[in-house]
This record gives sequence, C-alpha cells and structure tokens, in this order.
Amino acid sequence: MPKAKTKVIRKDFTPEILVFCCNWCSYAGADLAGVSRFQYPPNMRIIRVMCSGRVDPAFVIKALKEGADGILITGCHIGDCHYISGNEYAQERFGRLHEIIIKQLGINEKRVRLEWVSASEGKRFADLITEFTNQIKELGPLKVL
Ligand code: FES
Repeated sequence: MPKAKTKVIRKDFTPEILVFCCNWCSYAGADLAGVSRFQYPPNMRIIRVMCSGRVDPAFVIKALKEGADGILITGCHIGDCHYISGNEYAQERFGRLHEIIIKQLGINEKRVRLEWVSASEGKRFADLITEFTNQIKELGPLKVL
C-alpha cells in the first residue's frame, strides 16, 4: 500500500508572490480584505490591471524570471467582466500559458494560477492568498530560468 504524502512546508522560505488583480472586481476584493482586516501573508505584491484579459503571458514569464516564486491572476467571475468577455479571453490565454510556456520551461504549473474574486469576496481573497502562499512554500523557491 502506497504511503500517504505528507506536506512539507518550509518555514525558512518566504515566497515572493505577484498577484494581478483586475480593477473592477478582484482589486476591490483585495481592498475589502484589507478594510475588513482579514489576515493573510504579507509576502505578495499586487499589480492592478484594468481587466484580467490584459495580463499578457509575457508578464508572467518576466515576473518568474525576475524572482517571483508564484503568480496569481485574478479577475471578475465569468459573466461579470466589465469588458464583457475579457476574463474568458484570460482563461483561454491561461490555458495556452500552461500548456505551452509553463510546460516548455519546466515550471511546476501550480506556481501560476487563475482565480475569480468578486468585489464582495474579501474573505475569499484573503483565504486564497493564504492557501496559495502555503502551496508555494511547499514547492520551495523557484530556480532562476
Ligand atoms: Fe474584471 Fe475583466 S474587468 S476580469
């Protein structure tokens, strides 16, 4: 019988996480998390973009090359994008990013994630950052590309 995998979280490692937030939903969700004083790890930096569809895969690769250990792209829930279908476009692009670029570069696909966070989901934003940070801690630092 195979042994159950145990999670190894490296306490000596503080990952650098970059979070792309769309202006209309996820950035407001992040703001709500702060205003509501929900606790989450401080080791992330937010880049506000007008829409998740604005996040070019080149931004993600550049960030990983320049030291980010994990990237979170967040946007409005499907059907709520303020530019109608920007998040659907982001989803399509994200699929290609994972399939072609991430796998070709040999980066664990768990390091780059796409999530939807609405303006009213401050708690979800905080929980997401906490969970993603722990996941990246498990993976350890990203070796420079
Ligand atoms: Fe939020 Fe497009 S405006 S994903």
